[in-house]
Amino acid sequence: MATPEDTGSWLLYLSLAAKCGGDGQPHRFVGFLVVCAVAGLLTCLLHWSFPGGPAWGRWWWTRRRGCWAAAASVPGPRGLPVIGSMWLMTGLAHRKLAAAAGRLGARRLMAFSLGETPAVVAGHPDVAREILHSPAFTDRPVKESAYGLLFHRAIGFAPHGGYWRALRRVASTHLFSPWQVAASAPQRAVIARQMVTAMKQLQQSGASSAAGAAVRRVLRRASLHNVMWSVFGRRYELQLDPVKESDETRELGALVDEGYDLLGLLNWADHLPWLARFDLQGTRARCSRPVPRVTRFVGRIIDEHRSAPPAAAAAVDFTDVLLSLQGSDKLADSDMVAVLWEMVFRGTDTVAVLIEWVLARLVLHQDVQARVHDELNRVVGLDRVVTESDSASLVYLHAVIKEVLRLHPPGPLLSWARLATSDIHVDGFLVPAGTIAMVNMWAITHDPDVWPEPMEFRPERFLDDTSFQVMGSDLRLAPFGSGRRSCPGKSLAMATVAFWLPTPLHEFTLLPSPDPARGVNLSEVLRLSCEMAVPLAVTAQARRVA
Ligand code: HEM
Ligand SMILES: *[C@@H]1O[C@H](CO)[C@@H](O)[C@H](O)[C@H]1NC(C)=O
Repeated sequence: MATPEDTGSWLLYLSLAAKCGGDGQPHRFVGFLVVCAVAGLLTCLLHWSFPGGPAWGRWWWTRRRGCWAAAASVPGPRGLPVIGSMWLMTGLAHRKLAAAAGRLGARRLMAFSLGETPAVVAGHPDVAREILHSPAFTDRPVKESAYGLLFHRAIGFAPHGGYWRALRRVASTHLFSPWQVAASAPQRAVIARQMVTAMKQLQQSGASSAAGAAVRRVLRRASLHNVMWSVFGRRYELQLDPVKESDETRELGALVDEGYDLLGLLNWADHLPWLARFDLQGTRARCSRPVPRVTRFVGRIIDEHRSAPPAAAAAVDFTDVLLSLQGSDKLADSDMVAVLWEMVFRGTDTVAVLIEWVLARLVLHQDVQARVHDELNRVVGLDRVVTESDSASLVYLHAVIKEVLRLHPPGPLLSWARLATSDIHVDGFLVPAGTIAMVNMWAITHDPDVWPEPMEFRPERFLDDTSFQVMGSDLRLAPFGSGRRSCPGKSLAMATVAFWLPTPLHEFTLLPSPDPARGVNLSEVLRLSCEMAVPLAVTAQARRVA
């Protein structure tokens, strides 16, 4: 609540009051305290009484005093005094925000308060476009955990400016360009075959076949290995037995998991600065643990690359690319650690989470799976394996992926929010600098005005219009965001998903777990991505004698 000036005047009042008390007139001292308390309480209530709650009220009363009657305010829930509506961001935030917006008739744009931080959330394609494409929203709010984990020097959280632009340019030419995505196809093929082998083993091992095999671990490890290969040039066998896994995979896997938890957490101190010094949730302490491990891990890989540069152009990985930068693009070692670590971190779980959702839908909707199999029989046939070049012809499978992105967008709130760097008009309302802006992509993709019968799983809806793009041009379904800060890894992610999905589907028919208690459960849990709360268990029946 208290700005520095506020605090200053309170201290003055208190010292005055203490003086009065010192004169031997305790009743005056007490009286003064009561006046202060009442004044404080009234200010709180006054701020809180505003649409959107305390952070918005404070802004209207302090910064816009005098002209506040002239403009309408963004509708939104008041929440509680001081803390506002922090709880909207806990648990399944996308659903809570959508429900609140529906209740208050604020679907297009809703204001709310995260403690002292004003926030808006857009639930309409037009308003979403306004935010994501506005030059005033090209920064991101940097959470304490992001600083703690060094992410402020990586692409995702770096403020909009020269450093960020240089990093994006390097990443788009050397990691995400169409040429690079195509060049890494053989690597994805190797890992795809490892996945099939792992799923066969999983199915054969007696313990799991009774309950169905949990595919999550296979998907996550495959994803991690894929990124470690592109970014660090490291190759590993997919190992189901954790004991036999390489130390590096295990270490990096654990670090990614820990980072995921920390960044996904709502840290109260981010929005209530007076709480920050207490570190009640232990965020600072928890962040400080993985950082030296990350620095040591990535630092060692950088040193190895320095001492042994790649012999062939084909063996160049992203670490080599960063090391080869010259002049103004040259990165300090600590920045390189941040950039590399972010790539591993961002590239790992997102892809695995999306594939798990698709497989869950296919297990649940056997008719759709049958159509996918028909298409695979037609395009690939049963006498050879799927290759990445087949995936362009799998039109129906692409429709399935789009429909899953619509029903289960991995980042329902587009993962990391945007920050207003100046006062800006959004949908006709004035929004102050410092506001956190979110797009509720989940609300848009579940809005019956945007998508008819939104709760139905119907891939066919994308067959009428196969040119529908999910890459950010159409805000009715933009799971990778849009505008200058949209996901740079989107084509790599789509290429990976569109190839890794048909591979096991070509080999197996996926049936639900024989244990009815472990049937497909579509409950969600929102960490950094929106994942299945109950890991998918499947029975895999071979379709092909290999
Ligand atoms: C299914 C997979 C993925 C989804 C759904 C996804 C989604 C997103 C979203 C919604 C954003 C924020 C966009 C915005 O603010 O407009 C984002 C940013 C980002 N993503 Fe992805 N992503 C995926 C895969 C990847 C992969 C594989 C990588 C890298 C290897 C990656 C790297 C990044 C980075 C670096 C940013 C920050 C960009 C910036 O701030 O300039 N993502 N992603
Ligand atoms: C699905 O999982 C959720 C969360 O774990 C649980 O509460 C719910 O009861 C499960 N539903 C069914 C039908 O098993």
